[in-house]
Amino acid sequence: MLGEAAVWPPDKPTPTADEVMADPRYAPYLAGWPRHGDHGLVAEQDGPVGAAWYRTYTEATHGHGFVADDVPELSIAVIASRRHEGIGRRLLIGLIEASVAQGCRALSLSVAENNPARGLYESAGFVLVEKHGHTCVMVRNAAG
Ligand SMILES: CC(C)(COP(=O)(O)OP(=O)(O)OC[C@H]1O[C@@H](n2cnc3c(N)ncnc32)[C@H](O)[C@@H]1OP(=O)(O)O)[C@@H](O)C(=O)NCCC(=O)NCCS
Repeated sequence: MLGEAAVWPPDKPTPTADEVMADPRYAPYLAGWPRHGDHGLVAEQDGPVGAAWYRTYTEATHGHGFVADDVPELSIAVIASRRHEGIGRRLLIGLIEASVAQGCRALSLSVAENNPARGLYESAGFVLVEKHGHTCVMVRNAAG
């Protein structure tokens, strides 16, 4: 699912789980899962069809959507054959609700400027806070 989220353009092949596990660029998102505060949801129908998860990072080690060490960064993906059925939205809303229940003040994420997922994030209350080249960092504050 992390490979699906990272290599999101539909015309690019999704890395296999073995490739993702062997690639050090993915390690910050995976190492030691689940650490305290990590949280994830998996959508299943005859096996996993999508997942959304968040974890907190530090100034020293973090992903592209890092804004603060008390703001978890979320990732989300639905397998290509099951997109546009509402699964992603349900996962995202479920994850937001879990973060609020756990007392997180906000969630962050990074998304490519031209990824249509931006519309999903905006409709769930995420706003653009930073831009690095063509990568957008978005934040949703729990307090609204
Ligand atoms: C982003 C993603 C998780 C959304 O999951 P999904 O199950 O397809 O989403 P939903 O069916 O719940 O659709 C929700 C909204 O997503 C938006 N959306 C997401 N991907 C879209 C696409 N490729 N084309 C058009 N709209 C898209 C639409 O605004 C849609 O809103 P609508 O239901 O009002 O039309 C899924 O498309 C995906 O895995 N994409 C590849 C990986 C990725 O980009 N992950 C995010 C990296 S930041």
